[in-house]
Amino acid sequence: GRYNLRKRRKTTHDNLVDRISYLPHEILVTILSLLPLKEAASTSILSRQWQYLWTSTMNLNFDDEDTLCRTAKPPGGEAQELANLRYVNWVNSVVEQHRGPKVEQFRVSFHLDNRSSSSIDKWIRFAMKKGVQMLDIDFLEYGFHQSYTLFPHQVFGFKQGSAWRPFCFEVPNLDPCMYTGFKSLKDLRFKNVDIAEEVLQYFLSNCPVLERLSVYNSRYVSRLRVVGTSIALKYLGIWECFMMESIEIRDANLVSFTYAGHTMINLLIRNVPRLVDVSICEPNNLFFEVVFAQLSYCLSQLETLNLTYNV
Ligand SMILES: *[C@@H]1O[C@H](CO)[C@@H](O)[C@H](O)[C@H]1NC(C)=O
Ligand SMILES: *[C@@H]1O[C@H](CO)[C@@H](O)[C@H](O)[C@H]1NC(C)=O
Repeated sequence: GRYNLRKRRKTTHDNLVDRISYLPHEILVTILSLLPLKEAASTSILSRQWQYLWTSTMNLNFDDEDTLCRTAKPPGGEAQELANLRYVNWVNSVVEQHRGPKVEQFRVSFHLDNRSSSSIDKWIRFAMKKGVQMLDIDFLEYGFHQSYTLFPHQVFGFKQGSAWRPFCFEVPNLDPCMYTGFKSLKDLRFKNVDIAEEVLQYFLSNCPVLERLSVYNSRYVSRLRVVGTSIALKYLGIWECFMMESIEIRDANLVSFTYAGHTMINLLIRNVPRLVDVSICEPNNLFFEVVFAQLSYCLSQLETLNLTYNV
């Protein structure tokens, strides 16, 4: 508190010792990592010792609420363009300055379109290199038709030169040299990102500790398979993915499964002994009959079942 500090300065000036700066580097970095990014960055003015300390922060949450409120809608205007540019520059500059060996959380949340794709590509590579544990990408949306198609698939060495959209339907052509791996990734969230089915499937099979996957409003995913005990996934949530047709969960470690959408899907659940929590929200007159039939192999083991009729 500024007030207290001033008062203390008058009375006990001699006792005012900066003990915080003497804490070990790791502890200071841990403390800074708990602060919102902009506040952490503002500690750089404290002293020469603090100037670069914040660049080791482990939580990079680029959640720019101020800018978002000011440019709420409509999209496409000049103010929006400027805000986008500022946002991309902000993320780029932090990513370039970052000095710490690892990043636990990396979160971007902004109205980004494919003009920023080379930057986004860079961010994902950066997160991968720093052993990110939680990756959260939200491109926001103004409505279904305005959500953008974008995911930097070349990060994984998928076929170069393929346009974003058709890529979703292509067979991946992996180049292992380009892929350093998401070895520490535990929690992956995509919101309003049109991610390709192959990329999702790739994450599932190649992230050895991935426990949580949520996908919200991704337009081109139509099938998902969580099959085999080698897949670590425990929590799966799929929301508003309009093209979704089928989800297969078999011989897996899943504990919790949520699906909510405006289409009925083919749901196949077999031999998922740890599954205890299921939530399904769909539109259909026959909803309950169909869902009970689909869940018949796991009904007896469930602890919670949430069925919601989506009108
Ligand atoms: C971005 O997307 C638009 C609309 O889908 C497309 O016309 C344009 O060519 C794309 N630009 C780039 C750089 O990919
Ligand atoms: C049940 O599912 C609906 C639709 O997804 C959701 O809105 C609601 O919060 C869920 N209820 C509980 C108790 O989890």
